[in-house]
Amino acid sequence: MSSTPLKLSQSLEDYLEMVYMLRKENGIARVKDISTALAVKMPSVAKAVLELKKLGLVTQEPYAGVDLSKEGEKLANQILNRHLLLKLFLMNLGVSEATANNDACSMEHILSAETLSKIGIFVKEFRKKGSSK
Ligand code: FE2
Repeated sequence: MSSTPLKLSQSLEDYLEMVYMLRKENGIARVKDISTALAVKMPSVAKAVLELKKLGLVTQEPYAGVDLSKEGEKLANQILNRHLLLKLFLMNLGVSEATANNDACSMEHILSAETLSKIGIFVKEFRKKGSSK
């Protein structure tokens, strides 16, 4: 494991997250599907995949889809967990699911570890209170 945690740009985090989700759905993430899902052009996807490849986060075989490396999977998992936590937090505030989902996807890239951990505590407490009613 590397000692310095990898800090990806917001855009690369989105790509990694999408590769993870498409892989879960279809077993593999095709460039065409990433392009459709993120509403970006194919050359942009190719460029991002190349960057993620250089960082050792994804692998890509010719004519096959994009796959995550072990490290890539770990990082994608962290991003997704942040997303789910923030979505839950916003829904606890009364935000609709669709808006919570969209906003979580923006917030997941910018909040500090401190804030995320406090939100985690808040959500847990909120759930406890909810279940004791
Ligand atoms: Fe997200």
